[in-house]
Amino acid sequence: MAELQVSAPAKINLHLEVLGLRPDGFHELAMVMQTLDLADTISLSPTADGAVSLRCDRSDLPTDGNNLIVKAAELLKQRVGLPELGVAMHLTKRIPIGAGLAGGSSNGAAALVGLNTLWGCGFSAEQLLAMAAELGSDMPFCLDGGTQLCFGRGEVLESAGLPEPPALGVLLIKHPESSVSTPWAYKQCREQFGADYLSTEADFEQRRQALREAALLQGLSGGAPLPAIRNDLQRVVEPEVASVREGLSILRRAEAAAAVAMSGSGPSLFALFVDRDAAEAAQQQLAAPLAAAGFESWVCRCTGSGATLV
Ligand code: C5P
Repeated sequence: MAELQVSAPAKINLHLEVLGLRPDGFHELAMVMQTLDLADTISLSPTADGAVSLRCDRSDLPTDGNNLIVKAAELLKQRVGLPELGVAMHLTKRIPIGAGLAGGSSNGAAALVGLNTLWGCGFSAEQLLAMAAELGSDMPFCLDGGTQLCFGRGEVLESAGLPEPPALGVLLIKHPESSVSTPWAYKQCREQFGADYLSTEADFEQRRQALREAALLQGLSGGAPLPAIRNDLQRVVEPEVASVREGLSILRRAEAAAAVAMSGSGPSLFALFVDRDAAEAAQQQLAAPLAAAGFESWVCRCTGSGATLV
């Protein structure tokens, strides 16, 4: 097969609730995740030398075995049992790195989708989801995308049941020199709030059910005003990271913003608007303070799919 291209979209967290600590050391979560139309692209060319190689237009991103794209390729090769399979990959990066937007996980998910086709592996969607879960907690969501409730470590997906992606416009901002380590954010959360964690499956399930019935999902379908967005990691990251405090205070100046929050473990931040035009108007309204504080910004739409062949 000739060259293939795969699109790897960013996600934001519309809800991130830390329920407790699991026996495997990960946190038990209840989240709503949403894919955006901000996406990286991976091009894949087959080679016959058994080598997996990756190049990237950003020199600050590791392209060795630590990159989830390379990990995904190696896992797929191992599972299909054909060591002679090779691929030369090129990543065009648009999603900010280390930002809480699942850029790395989405890249890995896109590699699974693309290589499954390029190499003719024939794995089912379910098999790809299981491999994705081995590689990272957010990666199964990045395969499927759309609007989903994500439980467990984040890998247990449940469709939010919305007929369409939310019509909302999203103004996303990130300071280029700021990044947050996800393990650090969860560790801070455990140290500061671990005493309040829930511990039984019955308590976890009660919170999951509350999320299924929450006003958020009605708000996302346009049937009700959007409530405030909850992100439990924001309360540990915001006091420690100046760009998060400053960015939130700028976004809160947008009069038309329905909600303002941090995504994942940060430091990217977003404001939600009734539609894309309103988000664009807010980007213009806030252009001066965003530029003065050195923020990059993107206006995005919500989309209904994850990693996709293009
Ligand atoms: O699964 P992933 O590799 O994306 O997770 C990165 C890190 O984030 C984990 O090593 C862990 O420290 C933290 N984490 C967690 N609970 C989760 C997901 C991630 O504590 N549900």
